[in-house]
Order: sequence, then structure tokens, then C-alpha cells
Amino acid sequence: MSIEQLAETARAMVAPGKGIIAIDESTSTIAKRFAGVGIDNTEENRRAYRELLLTTPRLSDYISGAILFDETIRQSTRDGVPFAKYMSENGIIPGIKVDKGTHPLAGFPGEVVTEGLDGLRARLEEYARLGARFAKWRAVINIGEDIPSGTCIDANTHALARYAALCQEQGLVPMVEPEVIMDGDHDIDTCYEVTEVTLRSLFASLYEHNVMLEGTILKASMVISGTTCPEQASVEEVAAETLRCLKSTVPATLPGIVFLSGGQSDEAATAHLDAMNQAGPHPWPLSFSYGRAMQQAALKLWAQDMAGNYKKAQETVYARARDNGLAALGQWKQ
Ligand code: 13P
Repeated sequence: MSIEQLAETARAMVAPGKGIIAIDESTSTIAKRFAGVGIDNTEENRRAYRELLLTTPRLSDYISGAILFDETIRQSTRDGVPFAKYMSENGIIPGIKVDKGTHPLAGFPGEVVTEGLDGLRARLEEYARLGARFAKWRAVINIGEDIPSGTCIDANTHALARYAALCQEQGLVPMVEPEVIMDGDHDIDTCYEVTEVTLRSLFASLYEHNVMLEGTILKASMVISGTTCPEQASVEEVAAETLRCLKSTVPATLPGIVFLSGGQSDEAATAHLDAMNQAGPHPWPLSFSYGRAMQQAALKLWAQDMAGNYKKAQETVYARARDNGLAALGQWKQ
């Protein structure tokens, strides 16, 4: 696969007014989401729920791609069409989560490192065969007393760079996700400092590992106040600080940046993205790759009445996609 083909996929992922729906929750993460609304975490319920999301009528009006979990890329619609095939036929680029989750970083209490590099080349080869065109890896950076350490940041960005290089070798666009976690009572300035040093380390590692930025997408966390910080920054401040941080750290050759929602409310996630795009143009398209902020309203409806609310739940997914698609253009109106 040439760099031009990778770049074309990357550009399509952030096409104007479109973003990504993240439905790549691991079996243990979806268990928590299902438990919150009283759904049994069975394989069939997971399949049926992912089918509801992916077969939302006209989803591709505002959604360019979806990130799947290993189990999901092997599953099919109730009519027997493999999800990846259904997506490709309906204008949605199939993506896959390829990391194996976070584990405690030995010697650094409170910090984690993402695992999954062993055997990754063979797994990527298989995912490409199954129809995936991009792959996501999430690193987690926690903020707390005396953390993050430089060692934690470097261990995580080194892994991100190794995975990204392997993705490009196998013809997949890497979606690199260094998530600075919102939990904590830290202020927005602390989040800025941690995000800045993390992104600097990430782009240095990508450079050292010969990763072609033209065929890479950044999935970023916003610069935002910690969840329990007594002083919560305004929408304007979050937008301005996030933009300032990205402009000081992210090369302009990158085809696009998408944000995670990270526990923000649906409305906050949309408002922040909209405010950033209203302040454009920027060096890169800024769009979304939301999980919870795309799904939580629909999941709640489906849990109340799986058959009776099916259509209503899909309409909610479509409405969230439209709002975020408009925010990706700075045209969302509250
Ligand atoms: P949230 O938008 O729920 O944070 O999920 C996005 C994601 O893919 C996290 O890895």
C-alpha cells in the first residue's frame, strides 16, 4: 500500500462534516455500559446492539468510519452480512481497536502502560484481510499527585509509535490515541501542561520510528478541567486552550485530528468541538471519534424496550451524528 493510499483513507476519515463513531468497547468495558442500563452482557446482545448502531439509516451522512472491537469485526448482521462488508457497502470505513488494554506500569504506582505489541504484525494482517482500513491504539495518561512521570509518557508514546509503524507496513491508517484522563481535581492549566508534554513526546517518537504523518490520524483528548476541579473552565476556554496546545505540538502535515469524549456530557462534547471549529480555519480538520457521547442516549432507549425502541434509538444515533457533524464544521446551533 502506498503512502498516497493511506493518505486518501486518512482524508476520508475526516471528510468535511463527518466523524467517527467509536464502538470498540472491549467485552469488559461494554459489560459496564450494559450493567448501567440493566442489559445482560451476552454475545448476542453485544452483536444486536452493534447492529443497531451500524445499520442506523443514512448514518454515512455524518459518519465516515466506525471503530470495532475484535469480536465485532468477526460478527454479522442478523441477515448474515459481515459487519465490515455491510459498512463498506454503506459508506462507512471499518476500523479496529488493536491494543490489548492498559496494565500497571511496574515501578510507577498509579500509572499504566498499554500492551499489545507482541504478535501485532500478524493480527494487523488478519484485520486488513477482514476489511479494516484503520486501526486504533489507546494510551492512558493519568493526572494525580506527582504523576504523570516522564517514564510513563515515554513508555506509552514509544508503544504508540511502534504500533503506528506496523499499521502503515500492513496498509492500515494508525489512529494514535494518547488520552489524558479527565478524572481528578486538577485544573485546566495542569491538563494543558500534561497534554503538551505528551503530544511532544508522541510526535518525537513517531518521527524516530519513521511513521508517515500524512497517513496518520491523531485521536486527542481536549484540554479541560479535571472532573472534580472546583473551577470548571468554560466552553470558550476549553476550545481556546485545546487549540493552543494542538497548534504548538501537532505538525500541519497531519491529515486530521479527531477528539474522544472521555466522559464529557453529549452536549459538552458537541459544544467544545463546535467552538473550536467556529474559531477556524485550522491547519487540520478537527472532528470527532466519540464513544459515549455518540451512544449513551441510544443505549438507554434500547435498554428500556429492545424491540419497541429500536427505531427511536437509531434516530437518536442519527441525531447525535448530525449534531457532531455540524460541530465539525462549526455550524452546530444549540
Ligand atoms: P469516549 O468518547 O467514550 O471517550 O470513547 C472514545 C474511545 O474510543 C476511547 O478509546
